[in-house]
Amino acid sequence: MSLDFRVEPGGVLSGRLRAPGDKSISHRAIMLGSIAEGVSEISGFLEAEDTLATVNAMRAMGVRIEGPTKGKVQVSGAGLRGLRNPKKVLDCGNSGTSMRLLCGLLAGQSFNCELTGDDSLRKRPMERITAPLREMGADIITAKNGTAPLKLRGVSELSGINYLMPVASAQVKSALLLAGLYAKGRTCVTEPAPARDHTERMLQGFGYTVHRAGSTICIDGGGKLKGTNIDVPGDISSAAFFMVGASIAPGSDITLTHVGVNPTRTGVIEILRLMGADITLFNHRNVAGEAVADVRVRYSHLKGIVIPRGLVPLAIDEFPVLFVAAASAEGETVLAGAEELRIKESDRIQVMTEGLRKLGAAAQPAPDGMRIRGGAYSGGEIESHGDHRVAMAFAIAALRAASPVTIHDCANVATSFPGFPLLARSAGLRISEVQG
Ligand code: S3P
Repeated sequence: MSLDFRVEPGGVLSGRLRAPGDKSISHRAIMLGSIAEGVSEISGFLEAEDTLATVNAMRAMGVRIEGPTKGKVQVSGAGLRGLRNPKKVLDCGNSGTSMRLLCGLLAGQSFNCELTGDDSLRKRPMERITAPLREMGADIITAKNGTAPLKLRGVSELSGINYLMPVASAQVKSALLLAGLYAKGRTCVTEPAPARDHTERMLQGFGYTVHRAGSTICIDGGGKLKGTNIDVPGDISSAAFFMVGASIAPGSDITLTHVGVNPTRTGVIEILRLMGADITLFNHRNVAGEAVADVRVRYSHLKGIVIPRGLVPLAIDEFPVLFVAAASAEGETVLAGAEELRIKESDRIQVMTEGLRKLGAAAQPAPDGMRIRGGAYSGGEIESHGDHRVAMAFAIAALRAASPVTIHDCANVATSFPGFPLLARSAGLRISEVQG
């Protein structure tokens, strides 16, 4: 049985909402808590399929994890060398972050293990992590084409390397820094453009020194992490659906509370503001090393823009819904330099072009982006290709569509935002779930 969303056209978004916990931070809190000494208490944890895949993997390696219960998780750290040989293959499901970060964390262990995932994850490129990890001394066998399953053989030690990342990827950076904890000497990663820096921040929160000089981040192996408490902010990537929704639906006025606004994640706000969105941040605070704010978004007449390339890695997960903003804006929006979108949970350039055209919107794909001419569009039947963010983006499009939008294959929304239909309904989206 598959799950469809049916969304009636129109509607206004209003009220105060709290987006679910940040996915990237939730994964990292479980991983670092597991290899720390002592207990870590996590609150605001994202209880979704992706982050639960990380919890299950750490449990399979002998880590005691209690919860999640209402976003609270207690991790009894096993210490850097305390993980045990898992008796089963570690299944990361749909989660690229679980697979890539765990591969880094496990590359320097003394035991063998195997990481796998669902059909989508087993198609995604893994050489971007396995190649530099092998340079550090890891023994990893991939399937042909460099994809999962990943078979890791135990090694006695890794060695630090200097690695210049060919793409701005937080997953590659994090995999290498986590492997660096187990390496002799110093591991340095240089990023071509800033990618999200939650790993670096959280390592410091666990008392581990991280050195940063310009775009190079270094870590020395052999130290210790001390258990700590982490309050996970709301996920800006989930809040983004409501930011765009309120910006395109006339009369909307919505406040998103407790949103993580780490500057390596706020590209969506900057892009929407360049398009003319009315977004105010207030109640700024710092929560466990991460910037947090409340975000008010009111309807505004959006205009097409050329998206600055520097903002692309800072908004990489938000492009499906930003394409909907562009289709609802006056004039043309152009995105380039975003070839990474082709290797996400789906080929987001292809799948979004297909869907936008189904609604009658003018979308022209390019190898590394898209050109969209905004205007009126209709409803229609959309294939999400099992991509959670594509499904939610088209649900938001219904706010401006002339007729109902039906989105097929939406079960994977539970990988990042299990309560999306309920929360969206409470804000004013006319969404219902239909078992197909
Ligand atoms: C993530 C990094 C990003 C992002 C993904 C989560 C992370 O991927 O798209 O959803 O938690 O590190 P890349 O680092 O591959 O760009």
